[in-house]
Formats: sequence, structure tokens, C-alpha cells
Amino acid sequence: MTRPLRILTVIGARPQIIKAAALSRAVRGPFAGRIAETLLHTGQHYDANMSQVFFDELGIPPADIELNVGSGTHGAMTARMIEGVETVLMRKEHDVVVLYGDTNSTLAGAVAAAKLHVPVAHIEAGLRSFNKRMPEELNRIICDQCSTWLFCPTDTAVANLGREGFDLGHQARPTADVPQVVQCGDVMYDNSRHFAALADERSTVLGALGLSGKDFALTTVHRDHNTDDAARLNGIFGALLDLHTRHGLAIVVPVHPRTRKMMETLLTPALHEALTAGNGIHLVPPMGFLDMIALESNARLVITDSGGVQKEAYFFGKPCVILRPETEWVELVERGQAQLVDADPGRIAHAVDHYLSAGAPECPPLFGDGRAAEHICEELIRCR
Ligand code: UD1
Ligand code: UDP
Repeated sequence: MTRPLRILTVIGARPQIIKAAALSRAVRGPFAGRIAETLLHTGQHYDANMSQVFFDELGIPPADIELNVGSGTHGAMTARMIEGVETVLMRKEHDVVVLYGDTNSTLAGAVAAAKLHVPVAHIEAGLRSFNKRMPEELNRIICDQCSTWLFCPTDTAVANLGREGFDLGHQARPTADVPQVVQCGDVMYDNSRHFAALADERSTVLGALGLSGKDFALTTVHRDHNTDDAARLNGIFGALLDLHTRHGLAIVVPVHPRTRKMMETLLTPALHEALTAGNGIHLVPPMGFLDMIALESNARLVITDSGGVQKEAYFFGKPCVILRPETEWVELVERGQAQLVDADPGRIAHAVDHYLSAGAPECPPLFGDGRAAEHICEELIRCR
């Protein structure tokens, strides 16, 4: 009997842990015995509510290897991770390295694996913001260039790779020089479908926040160009306060640790006081995934600079105001479900007013058939 394909999955930041749940489910389910997964957690995110909660809730096995790199500058953090992944790969126990998205953990996994000639499978390949001031844009371009399999969630992602010169044809045995581009759908769509019923059953967040049966907006902000710039951060939170004042709409903001730190130093004292005065703006710690999708599926609208939260708003048929100048998920804007408003208070107010009067948008399925993880496993096995 052939031995299972041995994959090393590198995760580290919150969205990667959540994404890994889908593949991990497939590996332990229909692909048991054919794929064996080793889970490496870089430690980029480490607070319990940024990491452990997702293992506990989403049935992900504990990480087999923990690098515990913690926070730091891009260079320091990435260097520690490259060294850690390299040490593991030098044991020659893995056939493929699986990477998600565009974080520094993704970049480190790609560089370590490609230099040791271990094939890389990049999940969420081909996404582009065309803004190289974003650290994520650099990470995803480099990771795509190091990859043997580029698993794209959308047709747009495939087209982006085609424009960059990737061969979009079928490769019998892909390599890092002649990689395979596959449109497999989005593992986050798999997860939203899989966990929605569990969230209905288990999440108590609406009751805990006094929001059962009430209208509210859900907001997340964590992109460095929003959190680390006083004018932008004050602009965004000022617009949220204004939205609450004008519409009487409750607003739930699960606050990322980076944002919490920057709010304390960069918000004006008056705005900080108004936001924390207990007036229907709920600044709460980061949520578990089940609470998060309970909030997303019950919100009137979503206001966010997160990539994952934009898409989940679409999955749950909610309008989305995107606090960025551009997005990788251009389909959402083209469909009218989302509007790009940057950090401009006037544009935020205009988009919110539009969606509050327009009602729920049409959100036909765009992100695959809910079995992206299984398609990925099939492709990896086909090529072994
Ligand atoms: C990272 C990713 C970003 C992703 C986001 C998901 C990069 C370059 N950025 O951004 O693409 O959208 O994760 O959430 O990889 N911190 C804590 N506790 C934690 C984690 C972080 O306090 O458990 C604080 C630290 O002060 C840290 C800061 O948050 O310096 C930023 O963390 P970092 O991982 O560098 O970047 P994110 O902003 O989380
Ligand atoms: N998320 C969560 N709790 C939160 C905020 C986000 O579980 O408090 C989930 C969210 O539902 C999505 C993912 O985290 O699945 C998105 O991660 P994040 O916004 O941190 O990063 P991005 O997607 O922008 O890289």
C-alpha cells in the first residue's frame, strides 16, 4: 500500500487557523489514510482569543509543532519563522507544504520550503490588491512565485495569475517552475456553511450583548494603514459614533489586539470617552468563530477592513462597507453588495445610509460548491 501524502500545514494568524479547519476536516474524513497532516503553528497570533479558541471550537487537532515566535517587526518575526520551518523541513518528513493567505507566516513557509525544494501548495492564491504598500500584497506575490500548486478561490484570482504569466493549462506533474493553477472555490465558504448551524445552536453572543431581535451593525478594523494612522483611526471611529447617533443603531466591534493598543494612544480623548460611554457601541474582545458568524448572519450591515469578514458578509447576504481604498474581492463590489469607502467619514456615512435604506443585497454563490478543501486534497493526491 502507498504511504499517505505527508503535508506540513503552516498556520499562525487567526484567519489561517480558521481556514485550516476545512482542510483538516477533509484530511481526517474522506482522505483519511491517503493524506497525513502535520500542523505547524508559528505563534504569530498567541492570545487565547486569537488562536486557541479556534482549535477548541472548530475541531482542529492541536498543533504538532509550535514555534512560539510571537510579535515583532516584519523582518524579525519572519526570520524566526523561516528558521523554524526550515529546521522542520530539513528532517525530510514532508512531501508538500500547505500555506494559507498572505500573512508573514505564509511568506516564511513559502521561502523556507521553496529553498529546500519542497513543493508548496498555496491556498488563496492569485488574489491581488495592486497596492504594494500592503505587507500582504508582497507576501502573496512572493508565495505565489514559490508555489507548485496555486489554489484560487475565484475566477478573478485565476485571471490575475494569467496576467502575471502563469500557464493556466493542465500540468501532468506540476513543479515550482511549471506550477498548476486550480480554481477550487473558497475554503472559507466551506467553513461558513459547515459551522453556520453549530453557531445557531451554540452561540449566546446576541443575548449576552442584549441584541436578540434588534438591528445592529458589525464592525472590525485591524489593517495597519487604518490602525497606525491617527487621522484614519479617528475618521473611522468618528464615523461609527456618527452612525450610532444618527440612526440609533447598535454597533458591535470585536477589537483586534493591534487596534486596542492603537485606540488607546491615537484616538482623541473625547472620541475615546464617547465610544466607551456604554451608549450602544459595544467594544468587545475578539470573538470566537461561532459567535462571529452568529453576529454576521444577524447584523443589518457589516463595516470592515478585513478580507475574511467582507466575504462572510456576502455568504450571509449582508451589505458590506469596506474601510479600504481597494479590495482583492472585487466581485463583491461589482455585485453592489459592498462599497469601498476608504477611511473617509463622508463616504462611510453615505454608504451606510444607502444600505440601510436599500435592504439586503442579492448574493448568488460565487465561491465554489462548499467542497473546496476536498477539491484541493484530490488535486494534491492526483499529482503525487
Ligand atoms: C496579521 C496579518 C494580516 C491579517 C491579520 C489577521 C501580517 C503581515 N499581517 O496582522 O494580514 O489580516 O494578522 O488578524 O502577517 N497582538 C497581540 N496578540 C496576538 C497577536 C497580535 O497582542 O495574539 C498584537 C501585537 O501587539 C502585535 C500586533 O497585534 O504586534 C500585530 O500583530 P501581527 O501579527 O504583527 O499583525 P496583525 O495586525 O495581526
Ligand atoms: N474573526 C473572528 N473573530 C473576530 C474577528 C474575526 O472569528 O473577532 C474571523 C472572521 O469571521 C474571519 C476571520 O476571522 O473568518 C478573518 O480574520 P481577520 O479579519 O483577522 O483577517 P483577514 O481576513 O483580514 O486576513
